[in-house]
Amino acid sequence: MKETIQKDNLPQHVAIIMDGNGRWAKKRGLYRVAGHEKGAESVRECVESCGNLGVKNLTLFAFSTENWKRPKLEVETLMRLLIRSIRKEFTEFHKNGIRLNCVGNIESLPKKVQKELSEVIEKTKDNNNMTLTIALSYGSREEIKCMVQRISQKVVDKEIGVEDINDQLIQEHLYTFDLPDVDLLIRTSGEKRISNFLLWQIAYAELYFCDVLWPDFKTEHLYEAIESYQKRERRFGKTSEQLTK
Ligand code: IPE
Ligand code: IPE
Ligand code: MG
Repeated sequence: MKETIQKDNLPQHVAIIMDGNGRWAKKRGLYRVAGHEKGAESVRECVESCGNLGVKNLTLFAFSTENWKRPKLEVETLMRLLIRSIRKEFTEFHKNGIRLNCVGNIESLPKKVQKELSEVIEKTKDNNNMTLTIALSYGSREEIKCMVQRISQKVVDKEIGVEDINDQLIQEHLYTFDLPDVDLLIRTSGEKRISNFLLWQIAYAELYFCDVLWPDFKTEHLYEAIESYQKRERRFGKTSEQLTK
């Protein structure tokens, strides 16, 4: 199946809303957290497959600002799982040249999680095969609010003028300042919504929704998403004729 993917037309940046862990568990009569645990295996497979294909940026939505409203036990288990996965997977990921990056309100995470993250971020900072960004305690509206605050402060301090505010300046003040725009956004589990994920960055992304629940998401599903992406014509407002000229 890999042969059917064109190496010269890969999305530079793939972002995934990994949804459906709870439903996966419920279907099997298990606790929701069992779904999160199984979902961690899909993360490993997906990171490896993206790396093998040559995708340069993969961003995974792991925990939203809204997910803090979930039952305390689920939130705590998710945080524990997170530390465990990072510790476990990054030995191998590091060998494969993967850099860890995090976006979101990182200060709101438990200290232990912050420490684990910053150690791995530091250790992998020079890797350049792929950047794996984990969105943690992430909300796009919060990100945009922070960007507006930081830019406004610069205007107040007369570091910049109002006329200096443009798309590039905005991009440079987002959590994703060092990432390109998203080319392909995948959401699993059949839900067709964005749930406050990367609103600015997906302005021209191709959207791909699949019914598979995240713990069942395998390499073949990733390939299907990329194949679908490669069949599309990205016009960015132009006409089809203009593109072939
Ligand atoms: C996604 O799965 C993981 C997180 C949001 C942390 P869910 O836990 O949302 O699973 P469903 O949507 O309830 O099935
Ligand atoms: C979005 O999933 C967040 C993550 C995948 C981490 P949710 O399951 O929280 O989204 P909604 O609330 O159903 O839109
Ligand atoms: Mg969900």
